[in-house]
Amino acid sequence: MQYLKDRGFVHPHASEITPRSVYEGRRTLLRQMAAGAAGLALAGWAARDALAQVQRPGKLMALAGSRSAVAGALTMEKPTAYADATSYNNFYEFGTGKSDPAGAAGSLKPRPWAVAVEGEVKKPKVFDLDELLRIAPMEDRSYRLRCVEGWSMVIPWVGWSLAELIRRVEPTGNAKYVEFVTLADRAQMPGLRSGVLDWPYVEGLRLDEAMHPLTLLAFGLYGEVLPNQNGAPLRLVVPWKYGFKSAKSIVKIRFVEREPRTAWVKAAAQEYGFYSNVNPNVDHPRWSQATERRIGEDGLFQKKRPTLMFNGYGPQVGQLYAGMDLKKYF
Ligand code: MTE
Repeated sequence: MQYLKDRGFVHPHASEITPRSVYEGRRTLLRQMAAGAAGLALAGWAARDALAQVQRPGKLMALAGSRSAVAGALTMEKPTAYADATSYNNFYEFGTGKSDPAGAAGSLKPRPWAVAVEGEVKKPKVFDLDELLRIAPMEDRSYRLRCVEGWSMVIPWVGWSLAELIRRVEPTGNAKYVEFVTLADRAQMPGLRSGVLDWPYVEGLRLDEAMHPLTLLAFGLYGEVLPNQNGAPLRLVVPWKYGFKSAKSIVKIRFVEREPRTAWVKAAAQEYGFYSNVNPNVDHPRWSQATERRIGEDGLFQKKRPTLMFNGYGPQVGQLYAGMDLKKYF
């Protein structure tokens, strides 16, 4: 726990830092303000909704996809507002606050860009971004993304199944896992100055997970190329796993024999497992995973949604984990 505290993960309870008399007085004040404050909060939400209507995509290069035929790839749920999906982000290379990436990721240069695909493959190769964009036909996919912190979004991605790339490099018989290494450039990423994670951000999948047709290499969202804060120019999206498995701004894909040590496992192995499948029955030590708050639906009286096993993708991916103890392999 000390380790996490050092890294700023554990926030003191308000009563630990505020003298009792002060916070009790504050409570009375809050009670007196309650009616007025509720009114103000509602006005705030209304304003944000209005903003979401205005901030539509339209500034970035268009990236069109055709309707995906992959089973489960198109949820019918209402997409999260573009403004929310592009301003409420986790991208620690640009700071740990939710609005930090939208504010700071302008310094990321998504072009030129190359991705080295190496390790246990017969045909290792450094792919240029333009080459990657042409590897397979772009598809529209609409996925739920569930973050371990207890919120979720629905995002219309554009990309193709990672399996398309994997087939082209021909993994050897020794390839059991795939490791994803993302950009760590201090000149472009101010968040690297903090020691919150051991950079670069590394994620990993078992080879069969990486080959699953739902595992997406995404280049765009809402019909345009990815905004920097969402992981330009390319990122992973693994919809049945917690959001942190979906590595942003990938520069290297390595095929390996051993389970990769991911950035989050290194930071806190007791909190973040390698698998990290969405599972309402296995709580994170600090957050219940039973329910979730859908971003954009956080009005005063909005009920939380129940979280679904494998984020609702069980029919497609459950078989990958047949016979595995998902409490042990969390
Ligand atoms: N990738 C990198 N390189 N750095 C990060 O900090 N955060 C992860 C994931 N990928 C992260 C990352 C987390 S915790 C989540 S929830 C998702 O990105 C968020 O993706 P979004 O901002 O597009 O919703």
